[in-house]
Amino acid sequence: MRVTVFNGSPRGRNSNSHRIIEPLLDGAREAGAEAEEVFLIERNIQQCRGCFHCWGVTPGQCVLDDDMAELINLYLESEYVGLATPVYGMYMTGLLKNFMDRFLPLATPHIQRSDDGTFYHEGRVKRFPRQFFIVNSGFPGEHNFEVLQAFLSVAKRMNPGSVVLEVYRNCGEALQMTEGENSPVAARIARFREALRKAGREMVTRGEVSLETVEQIHLPLATDEEYMAAANRHWDDQIGQAQP
Ligand SMILES: Cc1cc2nc3c(=O)[nH]c(=O)nc-3n(C[C@H](O)[C@H](O)[C@H](O)COP(=O)(O)O)c2cc1C
Repeated sequence: MRVTVFNGSPRGRNSNSHRIIEPLLDGAREAGAEAEEVFLIERNIQQCRGCFHCWGVTPGQCVLDDDMAELINLYLESEYVGLATPVYGMYMTGLLKNFMDRFLPLATPHIQRSDDGTFYHEGRVKRFPRQFFIVNSGFPGEHNFEVLQAFLSVAKRMNPGSVVLEVYRNCGEALQMTEGENSPVAARIARFREALRKAGREMVTRGEVSLETVEQIHLPLATDEEYMAAANRHWDDQIGQAQP
Protein backbone atom coordinates (compact mmCIF):
# COMPACT_ATOMS: atom_id res chain seq x y z
CA MET A 1 0.00 0.00 0.00
CA ARG A 2 1.26 3.43 -0.92
CA VAL A 3 0.60 6.62 1.07
CA THR A 4 1.73 9.93 -0.43
CA VAL A 5 1.52 13.42 0.99
CA PHE A 6 1.93 16.50 -1.18
CA ASN A 7 3.29 19.29 1.01
CA GLY A 8 2.06 22.66 -0.27
CA SER A 9 4.09 24.86 2.07
CA PRO A 10 6.63 27.16 0.41
CA ARG A 11 8.88 26.41 3.41
CA GLY A 12 9.21 22.82 2.23
CA ARG A 13 11.45 20.75 4.49
CA ASN A 14 11.45 23.45 7.17
CA SER A 15 7.67 23.77 7.31
CA ASN A 16 5.31 23.17 10.18
CA SER A 17 3.34 21.12 7.65
CA HIS A 18 6.36 18.79 7.41
CA ARG A 19 6.48 18.51 11.21
CA ILE A 20 2.87 17.26 11.07
CA ILE A 21 3.28 14.99 8.04
CA GLU A 22 6.43 13.24 9.31
CA PRO A 23 4.93 11.35 12.30
CA LEU A 24 1.80 10.48 10.33
CA LEU A 25 3.89 8.88 7.58
CA ASP A 26 6.08 7.15 10.18
CA GLY A 27 2.90 5.55 11.56
CA ALA A 28 1.86 4.47 8.05
CA ARG A 29 5.31 2.90 7.52
CA GLU A 30 5.09 1.09 10.87
CA ALA A 31 1.84 -0.45 9.59
CA GLY A 32 3.65 -1.69 6.46
CA ALA A 33 2.88 1.05 3.91
CA GLU A 34 5.31 2.68 1.51
CA ALA A 35 5.06 6.32 2.47
CA GLU A 36 6.45 9.39 0.76
CA GLU A 37 6.26 13.16 1.21
CA VAL A 38 6.54 15.30 -1.92
CA PHE A 39 7.66 18.87 -1.37
CA LEU A 40 5.81 20.77 -4.09
CA ILE A 41 8.15 23.76 -3.74
CA GLU A 42 11.02 21.59 -4.99
CA ARG A 43 9.18 20.51 -8.12
CA ASN A 44 8.65 22.09 -11.50
CA ILE A 45 4.90 22.72 -11.57
CA GLN A 46 3.70 25.31 -14.03
CA GLN A 47 0.43 27.17 -13.78
CA CYS A 48 -2.62 25.70 -15.58
CA ARG A 49 -3.15 27.74 -18.74
CA GLY A 50 -6.89 27.11 -18.92
CA CYS A 51 -6.58 26.05 -22.57
CA PHE A 52 -8.70 22.89 -22.07
CA HIS A 53 -6.49 20.98 -24.54
CA CYS A 54 -6.56 18.16 -21.96
CA TRP A 55 -10.31 17.89 -22.58
CA GLY A 56 -10.68 18.49 -26.31
CA VAL A 57 -7.45 18.21 -28.29
CA THR A 58 -5.40 15.64 -26.35
CA PRO A 59 -7.93 14.06 -23.94
CA GLY A 60 -6.31 13.29 -20.59
CA GLN A 61 -3.02 14.89 -21.62
CA CYS A 62 -1.78 18.31 -20.51
CA VAL A 63 0.14 20.48 -22.99
CA LEU A 64 2.65 21.53 -20.32
CA ASP A 65 5.86 19.55 -20.01
CA ASP A 66 6.89 19.58 -16.36
CA ASP A 67 6.79 17.31 -13.27
CA MET A 68 2.99 17.03 -13.18
CA ALA A 69 2.73 13.87 -15.31
CA GLU A 70 5.01 12.07 -12.81
CA LEU A 71 3.13 13.49 -9.81
CA ILE A 72 -0.28 12.54 -11.22
CA ASN A 73 1.01 8.99 -11.71
CA LEU A 74 2.20 8.93 -8.12
CA TYR A 75 -1.20 10.23 -7.02
CA LEU A 76 -3.04 7.50 -8.93
CA GLU A 77 -0.72 4.75 -7.67
CA SER A 78 -1.40 5.74 -4.04
CA GLU A 79 -4.19 4.28 -1.92
CA TYR A 80 -4.13 7.33 0.34
CA VAL A 81 -3.11 10.84 -0.64
CA GLY A 82 -2.61 13.69 1.80
CA LEU A 83 -2.73 17.34 0.80
CA ALA A 84 -1.01 19.66 3.27
CA THR A 85 -1.11 23.43 3.44
CA PRO A 86 -0.60 26.23 5.91
CA VAL A 87 -3.51 28.69 6.01
CA TYR A 88 -2.66 31.58 3.71
CA GLY A 89 -5.18 34.44 3.59
CA MET A 90 -7.76 32.13 5.24
CA TYR A 91 -7.32 29.55 2.44
CA MET A 92 -4.62 27.27 1.01
CA THR A 93 -1.28 28.34 -0.48
CA GLY A 94 -1.06 29.26 -4.15
CA LEU A 95 1.42 26.39 -4.44
CA LEU A 96 -1.16 23.77 -3.45
CA LYS A 97 -3.97 25.43 -5.41
CA ASN A 98 -1.79 25.55 -8.51
CA PHE A 99 -0.98 21.85 -8.06
CA MET A 100 -4.67 20.97 -7.65
CA ASP A 101 -5.67 22.94 -10.76
CA ARG A 102 -3.32 20.76 -12.77
CA PHE A 103 -5.50 17.70 -12.11
CA LEU A 104 -7.93 18.87 -14.80
CA PRO A 105 -6.72 16.16 -17.26
CA LEU A 106 -8.21 13.54 -14.89
CA ALA A 107 -11.72 14.94 -15.44
CA THR A 108 -13.87 14.42 -18.52
CA PRO A 109 -15.39 17.53 -20.11
CA HIS A 110 -19.12 16.81 -20.17
CA ILE A 111 -21.21 18.37 -17.44
CA GLN A 112 -23.24 15.86 -15.44
CA ARG A 113 -26.02 16.45 -12.93
CA SER A 114 -25.99 14.46 -9.70
CA ASP A 115 -29.06 13.31 -7.78
CA ASP A 116 -28.78 16.17 -5.30
CA GLY A 117 -28.96 18.73 -8.12
CA THR A 118 -25.26 19.69 -8.13
CA PHE A 119 -23.09 19.40 -11.24
CA TYR A 120 -19.81 17.60 -11.81
CA HIS A 121 -17.36 16.17 -14.31
CA GLU A 122 -16.94 12.41 -14.43
CA GLY A 123 -13.44 11.20 -13.59
CA ARG A 124 -11.32 9.74 -16.39
CA VAL A 125 -10.00 6.91 -14.20
CA LYS A 126 -11.88 4.18 -12.36
CA ARG A 127 -10.19 4.54 -8.98
CA PHE A 128 -9.21 7.70 -7.17
CA PRO A 129 -7.20 7.49 -3.95
CA ARG A 130 -8.84 8.27 -0.63
CA GLN A 131 -7.63 11.57 0.72
CA PHE A 132 -6.65 13.32 3.89
CA PHE A 133 -5.97 16.98 4.58
CA ILE A 134 -3.44 18.61 6.84
CA VAL A 135 -3.97 22.28 7.55
CA ASN A 136 -2.08 24.45 10.02
CA SER A 137 -2.66 28.07 10.94
CA GLY A 138 -0.43 30.74 12.43
CA PHE A 139 -3.28 32.06 14.56
CA PRO A 140 -4.80 30.41 17.60
CA GLY A 141 -8.56 29.74 17.48
CA GLU A 142 -10.58 27.97 14.82
CA HIS A 143 -11.92 30.74 12.61
CA ASN A 144 -8.98 30.62 10.18
CA PHE A 145 -10.06 27.13 9.10
CA GLU A 146 -13.61 28.06 8.13
CA VAL A 147 -13.01 28.65 4.40
CA LEU A 148 -11.06 25.41 3.98
CA GLN A 149 -13.65 23.50 5.98
CA ALA A 150 -16.38 24.84 3.68
CA PHE A 151 -14.33 23.80 0.63
CA LEU A 152 -13.85 20.32 2.07
CA SER A 153 -17.47 19.89 3.07
CA VAL A 154 -18.49 20.41 -0.59
CA ALA A 155 -15.78 17.95 -1.73
CA LYS A 156 -17.01 15.38 0.81
CA ARG A 157 -20.65 15.80 -0.23
CA MET A 158 -19.70 15.20 -3.86
CA ASN A 159 -17.55 12.15 -3.04
CA PRO A 160 -18.88 10.55 0.15
CA GLY A 161 -16.31 8.42 1.97
CA SER A 162 -13.41 9.87 -0.01
CA VAL A 163 -11.91 11.82 2.91
CA VAL A 164 -10.38 9.73 5.67
CA LEU A 165 -8.94 12.45 7.93
CA GLU A 166 -8.82 16.22 8.36
CA VAL A 167 -6.18 17.77 10.59
CA TYR A 168 -6.72 21.40 11.57
CA ARG A 169 -3.72 22.40 13.67
CA ASN A 170 -3.97 25.88 15.09
CA CYS A 171 -0.98 27.59 16.80
CA GLY A 172 1.10 26.02 14.02
CA GLU A 173 4.22 28.06 14.74
CA ALA A 174 4.45 26.46 18.19
CA LEU A 175 5.75 23.39 16.35
CA GLN A 176 9.05 25.15 15.69
CA MET A 177 9.16 27.88 18.31
CA THR A 178 9.43 25.26 21.05
CA GLU A 179 11.76 22.83 19.30
CA GLY A 180 14.35 21.36 21.68
CA GLU A 181 12.57 22.85 24.68
CA ASN A 182 11.53 21.00 27.80
CA SER A 183 8.29 22.90 28.37
CA PRO A 184 4.62 21.98 28.84
CA VAL A 185 3.99 23.07 25.24
CA ALA A 186 6.80 20.77 24.04
CA ALA A 187 5.17 17.89 25.94
CA ARG A 188 1.83 18.61 24.25
CA ILE A 189 3.59 18.66 20.87
CA ALA A 190 5.03 15.22 21.65
CA ARG A 191 1.48 14.03 22.46
CA PHE A 192 0.24 15.57 19.17
CA ARG A 193 2.97 13.79 17.20
CA GLU A 194 2.10 10.48 18.87
CA ALA A 195 -1.58 10.91 17.91
CA LEU A 196 -0.53 11.59 14.30
CA ARG A 197 1.59 8.46 14.28
CA LYS A 198 -1.42 6.49 15.52
CA ALA A 199 -3.58 8.06 12.79
CA GLY A 200 -1.09 6.91 10.15
CA ARG A 201 -1.15 3.37 11.54
CA GLU A 202 -4.95 3.29 11.75
CA MET A 203 -5.39 4.61 8.22
CA VAL A 204 -3.31 1.76 6.84
CA THR A 205 -4.57 -1.05 9.06
CA ARG A 206 -8.27 -0.10 9.44
CA GLY A 207 -8.99 2.16 6.48
CA GLU A 208 -10.19 4.86 8.87
CA VAL A 209 -8.98 6.97 11.75
CA SER A 210 -10.82 6.51 15.04
CA LEU A 211 -12.73 9.36 16.62
CA GLU A 212 -10.53 9.01 19.70
CA THR A 213 -7.38 9.61 17.61
CA VAL A 214 -8.98 12.57 15.82
CA GLU A 215 -9.81 14.06 19.22
CA GLN A 216 -6.24 13.50 20.46
CA ILE A 217 -4.85 15.21 17.35
CA HIS A 218 -6.98 18.27 18.05
CA LEU A 219 -6.09 18.73 21.72
CA PRO A 220 -4.68 22.23 22.29
CA LEU A 221 -0.93 22.82 22.04
CA ALA A 222 -1.06 26.03 24.04
CA THR A 223 -3.55 28.42 25.54
CA ASP A 224 -4.24 31.48 23.39
CA GLU A 225 -2.34 33.59 25.94
CA GLU A 226 0.72 31.28 26.00
CA TYR A 227 0.87 31.19 22.23
CA MET A 228 0.37 34.92 21.74
CA ALA A 229 3.04 35.68 24.34
CA ALA A 230 5.56 33.29 22.72
CA ALA A 231 4.81 34.48 19.18
CA ASN A 232 4.98 38.16 20.09
CA ARG A 233 8.21 37.59 22.07
CA HIS A 234 9.67 35.82 19.02
CA TRP A 235 8.91 38.85 16.82
CA ASP A 236 10.25 41.30 19.40
CA ASP A 237 13.52 39.30 19.40
CA GLN A 238 13.69 39.22 15.61
CA ILE A 239 13.03 42.94 15.29
CA GLY A 240 15.51 43.62 18.12
CA GLN A 241 18.24 41.64 16.35
CA ALA A 242 17.60 43.49 13.12
CA GLN A 243 18.24 46.91 14.76
CA PRO A 244 21.80 48.25 14.30
C1 LIG B 1 1.34 35.02 3.06
C2 LIG B 1 0.89 34.41 4.36
C3 LIG B 1 -0.45 34.43 4.69
C4 LIG B 1 -0.89 33.87 5.90
N1 LIG B 1 -2.21 33.92 6.22
C5 LIG B 1 -2.65 33.35 7.39
C6 LIG B 1 -4.04 33.36 7.72
O1 LIG B 1 -4.89 33.84 7.01
N2 LIG B 1 -4.40 32.79 8.90
C7 LIG B 1 -3.49 32.18 9.74
O2 LIG B 1 -3.88 31.66 10.78
N3 LIG B 1 -2.17 32.17 9.44
C8 LIG B 1 -1.73 32.73 8.27
N4 LIG B 1 -0.39 32.68 7.95
C9 LIG B 1 0.54 32.01 8.87
C10 LIG B 1 0.83 30.55 8.48
O3 LIG B 1 -0.36 29.82 8.30
C11 LIG B 1 1.67 29.91 9.59
O4 LIG B 1 2.90 30.59 9.69
C12 LIG B 1 1.89 28.44 9.40
O5 LIG B 1 2.27 27.85 10.63
C13 LIG B 1 2.99 28.14 8.38
O6 LIG B 1 3.03 26.75 8.15
P1 LIG B 1 4.18 26.08 7.24
O7 LIG B 1 5.46 26.20 8.03
O8 LIG B 1 3.72 24.68 7.08
O9 LIG B 1 4.27 26.84 5.96
C14 LIG B 1 0.06 33.27 6.77
C15 LIG B 1 1.42 33.24 6.41
C16 LIG B 1 1.83 33.81 5.21
C17 LIG B 1 3.31 33.75 4.85
